[in-house]
Amino acid sequence: MTNRLKVGVVISGRGSNLQALLDACTDPAYPAEIVRVISNNPDVEGLRRAERAGVATETINHRAFENRESFERSLSDAMEAAGVELICHAGFMRIVTGDYLSKWHNRLINIHPSLLPAFPGLNTHKKALDAGVKLHGCTVHYVREEVDVGPIIGQAAVPVLDGDSEDSLADRVLTAEHKLYPLCLRLVAEGRVLVDGDRAIVKYAGPFDPNILLSPAS
Ligand code: GAR
Repeated sequence: MTNRLKVGVVISGRGSNLQALLDACTDPAYPAEIVRVISNNPDVEGLRRAERAGVATETINHRAFENRESFERSLSDAMEAAGVELICHAGFMRIVTGDYLSKWHNRLINIHPSLLPAFPGLNTHKKALDAGVKLHGCTVHYVREEVDVGPIIGQAAVPVLDGDSEDSLADRVLTAEHKLYPLCLRLVAEGRVLVDGDRAIVKYAGPFDPNILLSPAS
């Protein structure tokens, strides 16, 4: 496909969601391509995944900057220099603020391991187990100033089973994340997602429902 949306991915570590996006982009009919992967941590598995896929990588270590603002400016400039049109945060474990958010407004999406607005922040699987919810999952959303808040593009739910540990639940959610993120990126790249105030309206009539309920086996 010509005119694929140029995507930059920001990671902090393992990069399994990045891998799901890289895999989706190997299909020539997929409407997005990853042109740059940036990690705030050096030497992480996600950077190696990008290199294996032939995607240019960069480490921008937040510890080397005086403050959040200068780190974010460097990240933003690097994405712009790479010709990035949309940024995907994929396991990027830093809060973003200010000019970065304004510059990439409605061009910056994130995946979060819970069914937002339930369980923002860290330790979402523990929070879900402690709350005794029977459904848990993941959300892809546009990024806003408030952490883990922003127009929701898609969600995938998984059951919470008797005897689940944080790890078993995290694994089940992660499997759902790997399906949801490529689907949501596709919808955005195809121009099917319209942001209307606090909500994202998804125009889609394909075989997949972006708010699909995924069973553990699917
Ligand atoms: C994923 O579960 C992602 O949803 C979560 O971190 C994990 C990263 O895994 N992100 C956040 O918690 C963001 N606040 P990955 O590096 O293998 O994609």
